[in-house]
Amino acid sequence: MKETVLEARRVSYVYRTRHRTVQALNEVSYRFASGTVYAVVGKSGCGKSTLISVLAGLYLPSMGYVLCHGKDTLTLDRTLHRRHDVAVIYQNYNLFPLMTVMENVLYPLRLQQKKKKEARALAERTLRSVGLSPDYYNRLPAMLSGGEQQRVAVARAVAGGQKIILADEPTGNLDEENSRNVMEMLKRLAHEEDYCVIVVTHDPQVAAESDAVIRMSSGRIVGE
Ligand SMILES: Nc1ncnc2c1ncn2[C@@H]1O[C@H](COP(=O)(O)OP(=O)(O)OP(=O)(O)O)[C@@H](O)[C@H]1O
Ligand SMILES: [Mg+2]
Repeated sequence: MKETVLEARRVSYVYRTRHRTVQALNEVSYRFASGTVYAVVGKSGCGKSTLISVLAGLYLPSMGYVLCHGKDTLTLDRTLHRRHDVAVIYQNYNLFPLMTVMENVLYPLRLQQKKKKEARALAERTLRSVGLSPDYYNRLPAMLSGGEQQRVAVARAVAGGQKIILADEPTGNLDEENSRNVMEMLKRLAHEEDYCVIVVTHDPQVAAESDAVIRMSSGRIVGE
C-alpha cells in the first residue's frame, strides 16, 4: 500500500547572510509516497539540495510545513527523526574523516543501539552491495577516490534502515556500472521494501529510471 510518508506544504526557505538574502525555496508543495523513487531535477542553484535539507529536518522551513508521517518537523524530535525516519546521502558525502570506512557505516547502527555482531554483519553486507570489499574497511575516507567515498556514503545511509532515503546526487561521481548498481539498490528498496527514495540528479539516465520526475526552477516545482 502506497501512502504519503513525507509532505511539503507551501514550504519556503530563505538563506540570510550579512550581505544578501536568497529565497532558495518558494512555496513548494508535494506529497511523497512510500514504494516510490522520485528524481528531483533542475539547474544548478534552483534549490534541490535545500529541498533535501528541509525534507530531512536539517533545516526548518522559513514558511510552510514539512510533515513526516503526518508530524511537523518543527515540533517532532529531530534527533530521533534523523536516527529512525530519514537517511541522507549528502552531495559532498559528509563522511566522518577520522573514522574508517567500516566505522562510518557502523555509526548510524551504533546510534540505533544495534547489537555489535548484528551491526557488523549488516555493515559488511551493505558495503558488499555497493561493491566495496573488505580491503576498504580500515581505510580513511581521504584514502579513497571520489566514487568510492560516494559508495561509502550510500552504504552508510542504506545500512541505517530508515525507510525514507534522501539522496543528493548519489551517483554523481560513479561510473556507469556503479551508478546502475546504486540505482538498482535504491529501486529495489522502494519497490520491494516500500521505501520512499528521493534522488537529486543531473543524470538523465537516473531520472529515466525513477517512478516520478520533479522538475524545479528558481525554488519552485515547475513540473512533474
Ligand atoms: N548556505 C547558504 N547561504 C546562502 N545561500 C545559499 C546557501 N546554500 C545555498 N544557497 C543559495 O540557495 C540557492 C539554492 O541552492 P541549492 O544548493 O539548494 O541549489 P541546488 O539546486 O542544489 O544546486 P546544485 O545543482 O548546484 O547542487 C542558490 O542560489 C544558492 O546560491
Ligand atoms: Mg545541490
